[in-house]
Amino acid sequence: MKQQDKFNSKIGAIAVAAGSAVGLGNIWRFPYILGENGGAAFLLIYILFTILIALPVLIGEFSIGRMASLPVTAAFKKLAPNTKWYFIGLSGVFCAFIILSFYNVVAGWTLYYTYLSIVGDLTDLNQTEISELYHQTASDPATCIFWMILISLGIAYVVARGVQNGIEKYSKVLMPLLLILMIILCVRSITLDNASEGLSFLLNPDFSKLTPDAIFAALGQAFFSLSIGMGAMTTYGSYISKKQNLHSSATAIVIIDFIIAFLAGVMIFPCAFSYGVSPDCGPGLVFVTLPNIFNQMFGGQIMSIMFFLLLVIAALTSSISLFEVLVSFAKTQFGIGRTKAVIISSVLSVAVGIICAISSSTFSLFDNLSANILLPLGAFFIVLFIPIVLGKKRIKAELEANGTTFSLFNVFYFLVKYIVPFAIFLLFIYSIFNWLFI
Ligand code: TRP
Repeated sequence: MKQQDKFNSKIGAIAVAAGSAVGLGNIWRFPYILGENGGAAFLLIYILFTILIALPVLIGEFSIGRMASLPVTAAFKKLAPNTKWYFIGLSGVFCAFIILSFYNVVAGWTLYYTYLSIVGDLTDLNQTEISELYHQTASDPATCIFWMILISLGIAYVVARGVQNGIEKYSKVLMPLLLILMIILCVRSITLDNASEGLSFLLNPDFSKLTPDAIFAALGQAFFSLSIGMGAMTTYGSYISKKQNLHSSATAIVIIDFIIAFLAGVMIFPCAFSYGVSPDCGPGLVFVTLPNIFNQMFGGQIMSIMFFLLLVIAALTSSISLFEVLVSFAKTQFGIGRTKAVIISSVLSVAVGIICAISSSTFSLFDNLSANILLPLGAFFIVLFIPIVLGKKRIKAELEANGTTFSLFNVFYFLVKYIVPFAIFLLFIYSIFNWLFI
């Protein structure tokens, strides 16, 4: 690892990892999954899983990456030479392809909506027209493919320029801006007629709606939202300098990620209830609700341009982290240069992306397969790797490498060794069963 590949400032490392975490997962996926799974009760389970399961996994991924100082596949090879643990990295590469393929389609829609806002085609539509527009967009392969390819070119451009220059610069300034914009939109949304119904959907738990499926979806969403379970954060961990405190960085990222997802909920559900959009209408939820808010506010067109543009950027920083997994794999595996690795990865990911743009069933299959199966499976093996291969001493030494003490280390270790694998195992068995037989 070259020295310049390490982030030199604390805020730099957090900003980049937060840039990976915060994305369409928070603003597009979280509300639609929450909407499909009954609302507030799902939110509670999601919070529980985020703290008890996802946070320890994130800390674990960071430490493994930094300890090896290598991207994900090479990291497991180095830390456990001549063993099969290496397949964690390989499955991460596979998973990155799967996620990128549908993720970039949604990022493409977002870019298209930015374009529509700029040319004024998104303003003054009524609820029916807004919802028709989404359905037309999502079901038109040419539109989906065109915008998805534009997004992919943007990603290739940023990644080809390297870690430091490409990513760090953008996410530090733009994410706080996104946060401010979301707060403004939340205020407008909760002052719409009937907004209280939407807030109550989000905040008033009805545990009878908490199906086993919802519990599993909450786990998958917690992993998806934090970019864990497939090595993206392991790769980023390898860029974090030894001076930094991994557990506090991870905690900061979890908090930021949660705030953005929660605000997305506050922004979307009051509006959905106010305009009669069903909260369980699926992946289109954010696209069929938000334009209504823009129509109802002063400077709506500008707000709409800025919001969708910032969402594109949030999506880009997330896609980049997935793409980085492919590029660093190609580089270390085949000994090729960065540019070549970028070109090969782009061509392949666009090819898989086209399949998702054409077939909505492949789109949802990949969406569910990645979050509900591949990420939990990846996380399961990543956390097992810690007690089995690294052991308590080495992981403690890595987490305290900067000379401070991690006072909750024993809690972390207990979660990683027992609770996390056991919880994932149970939910996983249930999910396979469900998938095969129901
Ligand atoms: N976390 C991102 C989001 O919420 C998506 C993402 C980026 C991701 N990298 C990942 C998800 C790695 C899973 C694994 O939008």
